[in-house]
Amino acid sequence: MSFTIMGTGSGKPSLCKTNEDLVKIMDTNDEWIKTRTGISERYVCGEESVTDLACAAAEDAMNDAGISVKDLDLILCATISGDYITPSMACLVQERIGATCPSFDINAACSGFLYALDVAAGYYERKRVKNVLVIGAEQMSKLADWTERSTSIIFADGAGAVVLGEGEDFLSSQIASKGNHKVLYAENVKGNCPFTQQAPDNFNNYLSMDGQEVFKFASVSMARDLKRVMKEANLMGKDIAYVLPHQANRRIIDFAISKIPEIPSERFLVNIDKRGNTSAASIPILLDEYNKLGTFKDGDILLMSAFGAGLTTAACAIRWREK
Ligand code: UT7
Repeated sequence: MSFTIMGTGSGKPSLCKTNEDLVKIMDTNDEWIKTRTGISERYVCGEESVTDLACAAAEDAMNDAGISVKDLDLILCATISGDYITPSMACLVQERIGATCPSFDINAACSGFLYALDVAAGYYERKRVKNVLVIGAEQMSKLADWTERSTSIIFADGAGAVVLGEGEDFLSSQIASKGNHKVLYAENVKGNCPFTQQAPDNFNNYLSMDGQEVFKFASVSMARDLKRVMKEANLMGKDIAYVLPHQANRRIIDFAISKIPEIPSERFLVNIDKRGNTSAASIPILLDEYNKLGTFKDGDILLMSAFGAGLTTAACAIRWREK
């Protein structure tokens, strides 16, 4: 027993910021951001919190799936930028929407949503759940350092969600980690314990990223992981209806396309131009956008692939079912 996707949803922040808005506050330009990342605009939180976005995505996905909150057996939330260190974002959502099921977060950075699907599959395998809410929600704008341009130009805010139900449509899944705390990281609070030996002065609470190192890692891993999940599920390029890659940088997606010529480039779905890089939220936001456009047909095979801090990578193959 695996699962099927019964519904999708998303929560969009209120503020849309174009590259020109960024040019007014830092040393960058529209041409550089567009050609080096593919981003033209992104959404960031104004008065709303990331929990608000996660709850909006959850409600939207439950409406789309036609289930009520009392039907949920598990809530998984993939995030690295929740409003609290504890409680988890999943528990905050549970409280707000009035659910009663077990709820917990998964921290695998930008791969988190696909890690969460893999975890959910285990609960279905053990026959412990019927309906699972999986959310990816991020407020990356609070982790980026807006006094400089290295991360603030690519990261953005948003939330996406799916409701899973019983089925046999999760065809294959790969998750992997390659521990590395130097190329992409954000430190936790140091506290004020008088006995600790770690100097709080060194604390940097913003995201640090060696963009080129992450770029190299990501370019290799995306094509490799997509091929692995295709092989595991016995799929050929002609079987793939759409690929939903993590929206980190348009050039990383183009590199993956060049390495998998058996899948036509137009089958790779992209919205980074309008949404930026929303970390764990990027794939469920993309999925919801194209679901609501009516793009997916019954039986379509969708591939998903992500990578992020950790370093983590993940990919999966899912059969789409018409509701
Ligand atoms: O989703 C989680 C994982 N994260 C990622 O996947 C991010 C992967 N990495 C990237 O997307 C890219 O490395 C970045 C978009 C972050 C940076 O692009 P890059 O092509 O690697 O730029 P770079 O840092 O090598 O800089 C190239 C040039 C430099 O100028 P010089 O030394 O060649 O004269 C930079 O100073 O571009 C300059 N530059 C900028 N110029 C205008 C760097 N950032 C900017 C900027 N605006 N924002």
